[in-house]
Amino acid sequence: MNVLLIGGTSEIGLAIVQRLAGDGPVRACLLGRDRDRMAASSVALDLDAECDLLDAEALEEHEGVIARAFARAGGFDIVVLAVGVLGGQAGLDADRAESIRVMRVTFPGSASLLLAALGALRRQGRGALVVLSSAAVERPRAGNAVYGAAKAGLDSLAQGLADSLAGSGVRVLVVRPGFVRTRMTAELTPPPFATTADAVAQATVEGLAGRAHTIWVPGVLRYVFAALRHLPRPIYRRLPL
Ligand SMILES: NC(=O)c1ccc[n+]([C@@H]2O[C@H](COP(=O)([O-])OP(=O)(O)OC[C@H]3O[C@@H](n4cnc5c(N)ncnc54)[C@H](OP(=O)(O)O)[C@@H]3O)[C@@H](O)[C@H]2O)c1
Repeated sequence: MNVLLIGGTSEIGLAIVQRLAGDGPVRACLLGRDRDRMAASSVALDLDAECDLLDAEALEEHEGVIARAFARAGGFDIVVLAVGVLGGQAGLDADRAESIRVMRVTFPGSASLLLAALGALRRQGRGALVVLSSAAVERPRAGNAVYGAAKAGLDSLAQGLADSLAGSGVRVLVVRPGFVRTRMTAELTPPPFATTADAVAQATVEGLAGRAHTIWVPGVLRYVFAALRHLPRPIYRRLPL
């Protein structure tokens, strides 16, 4: 199986590739900003992988980088889009320049990569695109307004385009994890229902084996966030989320 990981140093993305490799031989292509770290990860995880450079903020390069990866590998069965930046946990108080970087990487940058990857999958007429979204897209909150807004844009794009793929042989799986203990959240106190990269990887592989279009990790968050969505605002804003 050929797997393309966009965000080649992502802990969750690498856990997904590793989990897929546990089910059978995988040839991986890792795309990211740091060739040395990608190479070190593939050695540490014993992956058969090649790496290429990609900057999510260099939108004009995306089509070329993705097209080259597809051509080199002879196509991909699964593409995982795992690029994202969390940024500081503040709403109106957030640093403006940092907020713009978070949004640029997490929405326009990731959306451009999503479009390039889906275009390539459509041309080959088969395959699955896994989009790492977030449970945060269900309802914005003060602490993660910037990241949540950017992820909501990406999630919405993925959901809409997924519907346009019916009958094309290509599918999109949107993965909405809650808090995952990775380097992205290393500075934060884990809230209830915090999970691990391995748990996200296992749920993603199970989702790919079935017919799901959207999964929450852990699964109970589907119901937790459905309830939170309707909570009156004065109560919602006081929750320790
Ligand atoms: N951890 C969580 O709690 C959580 C929860 C829900 C959803 N997610 C989402 O899951 C995905 C993976 O997150 P993770 O936990 O595995 O965190 P991570 O290890 O920090 O992964 C984030 C990835 O985004 C890449 N990236 C950031 N800016 C980039 C840029 N300008 N160009 C290219 N790549 C860039 C990072 O590359 P560098 O190594 O070069 O920075 C890294 O590969 C993200 O989309 C994240 O938003 C995470």
